Amino acid sequence: MNKPISETQKKDIAHALHPYTNLAAHEEQGPLVISRGEGVYVWDDQDNRYLEGLGGLWCVSLGFSEPRLAQAAADQFAALPYSHTFAHRSTEPVIALSEKLMEVAPKPMTKAFFLSSGSEAIDAMIRFTWYYNNGRGLPKKKKIISRKRGYHGVTVAGGSLTAIPLMQNDFDLPLDRMIHTDTAGYYRYSETGETEEAFATRLADNLEQLILKEGPDTVAAFVAEPVMGAGGVMTPPATYFEKIQAVLRKYDVLMVADEVICGFGRTGNMWGSETYGIQPDMVTCAKQLSSGYLPISALMISDKIYDVLKSQSKKHGALGMGYTYGGHPVSCAVALETLKIYEERNILGHVRSVAPHFQGRLAEFGASPIVGEARGVGLIGALELVMDKSTRDQYPPEAKAGAQVAAAALAKGLIVRALPGDVIGICPPLIITKAQIDELFDLLALAVSETENLLMKAA
Ligand SMILES: Cc1ncc(COP(=O)(O)O)c(C=O)c1O
Repeated sequence: MNKPISETQKKDIAHALHPYTNLAAHEEQGPLVISRGEGVYVWDDQDNRYLEGLGGLWCVSLGFSEPRLAQAAADQFAALPYSHTFAHRSTEPVIALSEKLMEVAPKPMTKAFFLSSGSEAIDAMIRFTWYYNNGRGLPKKKKIISRKRGYHGVTVAGGSLTAIPLMQNDFDLPLDRMIHTDTAGYYRYSETGETEEAFATRLADNLEQLILKEGPDTVAAFVAEPVMGAGGVMTPPATYFEKIQAVLRKYDVLMVADEVICGFGRTGNMWGSETYGIQPDMVTCAKQLSSGYLPISALMISDKIYDVLKSQSKKHGALGMGYTYGGHPVSCAVALETLKIYEERNILGHVRSVAPHFQGRLAEFGASPIVGEARGVGLIGALELVMDKSTRDQYPPEAKAGAQVAAAALAKGLIVRALPGDVIGICPPLIITKAQIDELFDLLALAVSETENLLMKAA
């Protein structure tokens, strides 16, 4: 039964429109109002504590109370709260952040273009891809391929690459020029008896067939998350990116790594591209770039792209696009401080030291009768819930199996996310300790067994 709606909740219901929310249900139940945070924990306005098992939205790497990030913002607000990077202007934070980011960027990235969200970085990537191929005298080469269940933001163009039905249905997406290929999820999409390698070969063959069907002279780029996040936390099968990239190279199709979730240590390396042997032409990043403290993202490009953008901008008189808040000095100062903290505190070393424990505790869930697969890498993981483990059959949507686990976890003081396909996503702050990992999985185990009992009773 829902609790009575508080005055604060009533005001929210009256005036705030919430993304990814059932608006009718929201009027009945109201929002969970988060009021403060410390380390890996947040508190609601009733003073209930939660372990934030999703780091906000996969972003709060340094926890919810890092004083150095607050200080970096305050210092920059005092020095210069706003300036821009249009028309040959720059600021010290933009310059310092570009330099620092390029020190750690995946090879062979050489330049960073700053924006305010992952969606904007993806949108800029699309524009640059079209501008690039027009500059190369290839005006037909414009289609962009993403994977079904991939998540690449919500702009009209990026939302066309986000191939998840909820996010496209009745929004009149996808636009043409945006096409979709197979999901690289071995557990759900492999055939009986198929090895990971054979599955990867089949997906690479399908990609090649798609490119040939569309016409290689019309296909410009392929975009993928190294580990698919919001679509269900799917780690790629062995040899997948190696085989996919061989196809892309054959048909002169750009490889774009969407590192918005994986970037900055999530998979145990600085970039998911390193973990999975991806050699990208362009890379998007956001989220952990500023530990989520301020909105900032970057599109990073290699010289191969930059050289064409340079000649195009010369021809047209300027690179004809830009965002008022792209390269905002306060966001850049906070991002720079975040990168310094990663280095000084060896956050990557910490992730590597606790990840085996995280993955070990995660794997134990494989024994549950409602968990078809427990999977992950580094400090990201997921449980895929199923009704029948032998057939991989899922619960009907109305059973809301994933939502039930997330709600049971919340009631116990743990925030996790129910993703499409009854997948429970887990992506805690990178600073999480071994003891806090135990707390997270102990709470999740209670939530899963409670849901298991309810679902079995209902069956
Ligand atoms: C891989 C990936 N790309 C792009 C985006 C879009 O980022 P934003 O929500 O900042 O627009 C997200 C957001 O979760 C993401 O996970």
